[in-house]
Amino acid sequence: MNTDRRGFLKAAVAGGALVATAKLPSFAEDDPSLFPRRGKFERLSLSYATVHVGATKPFSVLHISDTHLSEAYPDEGETKLKLMDIRRKTFGGRQEEALRDSLSWAKKNVDYVVHTGDLIDWQSRANFDLVKKYFGDSMFGSLGNHEFSRDMWLGDPKEKDEAWKDCSREKLAEEFPFDISLHSQIVNGVNFVTVDDVFGTVTPGQVERFRAEVKKGLPIVLCMHVPIYTDDIWRALVKFWKCAGRKFEDAALPPPEGDYLRQKEDKVTSDFLAYLKKEPLLKAILAGHLHLTAEDRFSPTAVEYVIGGNFMFCGREVLFV
Ligand SMILES: [Fe+2]
Repeated sequence: MNTDRRGFLKAAVAGGALVATAKLPSFAEDDPSLFPRRGKFERLSLSYATVHVGATKPFSVLHISDTHLSEAYPDEGETKLKLMDIRRKTFGGRQEEALRDSLSWAKKNVDYVVHTGDLIDWQSRANFDLVKKYFGDSMFGSLGNHEFSRDMWLGDPKEKDEAWKDCSREKLAEEFPFDISLHSQIVNGVNFVTVDDVFGTVTPGQVERFRAEVKKGLPIVLCMHVPIYTDDIWRALVKFWKCAGRKFEDAALPPPEGDYLRQKEDKVTSDFLAYLKKEPLLKAILAGHLHLTAEDRFSPTAVEYVIGGNFMFCGREVLFV
């Protein structure tokens, strides 16, 4: 690892979970001739939420997730070039435009940006260079499962776990200027805690660190890639991903699978989620991963907000008061 560079990046941004929009580079806005009669930022599909968190001063955050940048340089090898072709088609090929529109809008309209993972679709020099181009040294949030992917199904093993993450931790810690396991940033008396839960689970070390954050006694906004599943969020996911093209036939909850099953079966994670439900300092959860926009009450004090894919120009402005 290049510790000097990593140290420089961390120092440059003074550690944080949110990107201050004042630190974002400026970019030319999108070409109005593409859609001449539209409103100024009509290509963005924004939803809105207000979280009554007890901030010392109100502020707003653009929450985006799942941009899935899919670029590679010509010298990065056949596999990466093939992935670029396939995944540009998968996500529509306008991921960079969507990110640029989002950040350009954010710079004028909100105080911070949080990105909850899958900013890149897989590791490549070109993708990492785009992260730097758009965020400068200020990309914050949480990683997604795709940040850990080297070559997707063309090279990655099928089973993904903490050992698989170990292959990329050093590289990602260099490329992203925050603690990729758990990071905290306090804004106007609100503690934003970002956590790596990219395969649905958390580790005992992360739980311990989260509990240390709780001891600070401040309201907490938990930001992570994979949502904590609630009945209605799971139902929405199953409809979107598994029942596309047909109507709901049954109101019964579909059986748990994938990340949802792991959240239930992994003892450390299920204990952590049970504890979180009773933690009064938890005020909101911001997550992505599902590529759909949904929200549901998680606990008496916290609503979970899931934001759709930024590759589809989705984002949510969240006002914290
Ligand atoms: Fe994801």
